Amino acid sequence: MPAIADAIILKNGAKTFQQDEDSPTYVLKGVDLTIEKGQFYILLGPSGCGKSTLLNIIAGFLELSEGNLEIVTSNTNRDGRGFVFQSADSALFPWLTVEENIAFGLKMKKVPTEERKKIAEHYIKLTGLTGHAKKFPDNLSGGMKQRVQLARVLANEPEILLMDEPFGALDAMTRRSMQNELIRIWRETNKTIIFVTHDIQEAIILGQKIGIMSVGPSSKITTTYDVKLSYPRDLTTAEFNDCYRRVQAHFEDYGI
Ligand SMILES: Nc1ncnc2c1ncn2[C@@H]1O[C@H](COP(=O)(O)OP(=O)(O)O)[C@@H](O)[C@H]1O
Ligand SMILES: [Mg+2]
Repeated sequence: MPAIADAIILKNGAKTFQQDEDSPTYVLKGVDLTIEKGQFYILLGPSGCGKSTLLNIIAGFLELSEGNLEIVTSNTNRDGRGFVFQSADSALFPWLTVEENIAFGLKMKKVPTEERKKIAEHYIKLTGLTGHAKKFPDNLSGGMKQRVQLARVLANEPEILLMDEPFGALDAMTRRSMQNELIRIWRETNKTIIFVTHDIQEAIILGQKIGIMSVGPSSKITTTYDVKLSYPRDLTTAEFNDCYRRVQAHFEDYGI
């Protein structure tokens, strides 16, 4: 068995947005977080609490105002983190086909055409896009577009996947099937995943560990919850309901 290693360690993280010089408002304050390599970690919290801000800090898009963030990857030639946005529409290039979108990052890195094609084909297959390679994003459903976005991120071979409510805009049935697909892909690729959601059910369907964030300002991770249920998870079991109730109880404490 390989030794468990930490992938992400955040100590005492804080973020302020300087709107008023005299009294900075802390969006995040005192955030402690440890995520193990290969773990499926959920950041769960109400809208506006600072989930995206925290994920953007981990992605390196935003700077911490205070605290220390350590990202451990063995991926030296690439940045090691891949970000999947909520909206595939703004993330994908409408003038490129599915396979060109997926291979875009590789082309930028000057990966030779043949290798690019091979890698794109692999991720087309992995994400269930076989038969759609020559289509343009506008001709795909919302779920399919998110598959393309995920395939494009995976094609860059990050060790860590950061996902910001990626299924939030999908209808309920598509969302369920995408959740199952993501679990399958995670198990096939052994990626570390940090997945942001405000949906308790989604958190329990997907996560091994759930970091529950408090209402902002000065939001932090107040509790972490280990979901011990085996995959794929059955929503109709008493055990699932029991988890749901326990997680929900944390939010009732805040009066949400
Ligand atoms: N660039 C910014 N400048 C000022 N305030 C911001 C900025 N980005 C986010 N915020 C504020 O930080 C808080 C948390 O936002 P966000 O991280 O998007 O929350 P969530 O993703 O949990 O809905 C909100 O009150 C939001 O208005
Ligand atoms: Mg957000």
